Amino acid sequence: MRLPADFPDRSPQGIAAVIARLVTDGVLAPGDRLPTVREIAADLGVSPATVSSAWQALARAGVVVSRGRAGSFVRAPRRDWLTRRLQGLAGPVDPAVLDLSSGTPDPALLPALGDAFARVSLRADAGRYHDLPVLPELAAVLEASWPARTETITVVDGALDGISRVLGQVVRFGDRVAVESPGFPYFFDLLDALGAEAVPLELDDEGVVPASLTRALAQHPSAVILQPRAQNPTGASMTTRRAQQLAGAVRAARDGDRVILVEDDHSGMIAMAPDVTLGRWLPDQVVHVRSFSKSHGPDLRIAALGGPRRVVDRVIARRMLGPGWTSRLLQAVLLDMLTRTEAVEAVRAARLTYRDRQEALVGALRRHGIALPPPDGINLWLPVADERAAHVHLAAVGIAVAAGGPFLAGGAAPDADGPYVDGAAPGFVRVTGGLVTRGAAAVAAELVAASRATG
Ligand SMILES: Cc1ncc(COP(=O)(O)O)c(C=O)c1O
Repeated sequence: MRLPADFPDRSPQGIAAVIARLVTDGVLAPGDRLPTVREIAADLGVSPATVSSAWQALARAGVVVSRGRAGSFVRAPRRDWLTRRLQGLAGPVDPAVLDLSSGTPDPALLPALGDAFARVSLRADAGRYHDLPVLPELAAVLEASWPARTETITVVDGALDGISRVLGQVVRFGDRVAVESPGFPYFFDLLDALGAEAVPLELDDEGVVPASLTRALAQHPSAVILQPRAQNPTGASMTTRRAQQLAGAVRAARDGDRVILVEDDHSGMIAMAPDVTLGRWLPDQVVHVRSFSKSHGPDLRIAALGGPRRVVDRVIARRMLGPGWTSRLLQAVLLDMLTRTEAVEAVRAARLTYRDRQEALVGALRRHGIALPPPDGINLWLPVADERAAHVHLAAVGIAVAAGGPFLAGGAAPDADGPYVDGAAPGFVRVTGGLVTRGAAAVAAELVAASRATG
């Protein structure tokens, strides 16, 4: 079998790039068998080892799958439980790869759970279905650390759970919702699921640009979603000055007092910037959500949600008709970890370690001529000349990063059969720099090469 393509660059990266293009362009469909390594090697006049390296890179990038003697095949969609946008985001399931695509914390930096579990009651609390959904002691600790006075605080099963429930109460089918772009892909899918239209907000180093919020408010959105710290994907953290300006923009807008602002402090205690909320100026309109996923572990599924009663109580009441509350056992574990010196120290150390790792990577990128604003949290947003070529280059050296397209409101339609890449076009990739434990200079060198690669 011959492939309908030219191979101007016969290095492993060059060969892999051509195949990836054939897949993205639909010339090769999911399930198609690739020619054998020997066939291609003979055809191109290169060694089988060169083709084999290209095939391995494509497998690591999730473009093809090897089925041993049967050959290599264009990969069919996997992870059917994810939306198409999120399938494009997910990295490879391959331990040989340095996976910087995940946006998840380093398991080695999470506080140990064993002691906390040993200390909480070893018998599940029988409780009552009508008890308060949040442990009063935990509510007190949260209140003391909240960035502004708030009417009420409850606990939910992660930031996304809380945000989804708030939007479920305040957004109706056909409404508009202002959201950062680039921003968190799950929000775009969530808005699609609610039948709402995303109104994109622009960002700079200090957070959302006030003029873009003013423009969005003129379209009368029912909600605005903001990430005050360690914005995913850019890493920008909002300054207090910017928060005040944004609150001013809401006050100045016609019907601005009707909009609900949902703040997603997803990085919480591992963010370096101080906690900030527009709730300081707009207490009746702001729901602030603090996740403990990055600091204490995504699998705890715990976040705190504070805001005006008229919104939070509706969320609580609606949840009583489903899961009811967040396991009090887990709430007790979180309370223990928020009040014990060892766990508090572990989280503090994690925060500084992420900062050091990100600084090392950004510093090395700068020495190669790529200057990025210092990112807060665990991610950085890297501009690349050609997104697809960048992925293929990185896959060839065993590094996975997240595609940029899913982070853009109204971004390209995801290609469910391969990496989510909008053809050969300039763009971005998101790199979870907080997971680069060593060799920052070498990783940076590959990121730079990837950022310049073209198909
Ligand atoms: C912006 C943003 N929001 C929400 C979440 C999810 O947080 P949680 O695990 O608390 O649901 C993440 C996770 O990476 C995130 O990046």
